Amino acid sequence: MKLFIDTANIDHIKEINGWGILSGVTTNPTLCSKECRSFKDMIKEIAAIVDGPISAEALSMKKDEIVKEAKELASIAGNIVIKVPIMPDGLAATKILSEEGIDINMTLIFSANQAMLAAAAGARYVSPFVGRLDDIGNDGMGVIEEIMEAYINFDIDTEVICASIRHPQHVVDAALIGCDISTIPYEVFKKMIKHPLTDKGIESFQQDWEKIKGL
Ligand code: G3P
Repeated sequence: MKLFIDTANIDHIKEINGWGILSGVTTNPTLCSKECRSFKDMIKEIAAIVDGPISAEALSMKKDEIVKEAKELASIAGNIVIKVPIMPDGLAATKILSEEGIDINMTLIFSANQAMLAAAAGARYVSPFVGRLDDIGNDGMGVIEEIMEAYINFDIDTEVICASIRHPQHVVDAALIGCDISTIPYEVFKKMIKHPLTDKGIESFQQDWEKIKGL
């Protein structure tokens, strides 16, 4: 499973990218608004840091405007992917843009039906939001499972991005289902790497090495 980071924070992206494990970045308008700076500058900087797809969201609501906005965003760098919400105009724009070679990440997916529509329109990625489904008492990971099964049944090559991840177990569950990608918040990456036995082991190995390193 490929690991993306779900943030627009440059320091966090640089830190996790420094681990050598990142395959891409996803942003959304809420994440970008936290950074309080020009959206296009932010996306350009991120695209130069991470060697992989960088999702930037188009905010227009009508087909022609979505297409125009997506083309502008795609021209920022060669690795930009356009996030488009699932809605009739979003699907129509996805059809046009994907045929022109612009990769679309269809977002705000909450059901297998929406994911099938996105794939039929030519989306390169779909982003089901597991955490937001769990928040309202639904089974977020169950929806990922349904999408994966439906895509496998018909050899659909649209990649599934497990999004709206809340904790490390979401990442494990997505991997066990065979989800293509997890887009992970910075704080969750920090929790994924931690284990008290690892900390204890490093500490005792360092202390024991001190006893013999000068001999
Ligand atoms: O970027 C899309 C998604 O990951 C948002 O997550 O935490 O706002 O539900 P969240």
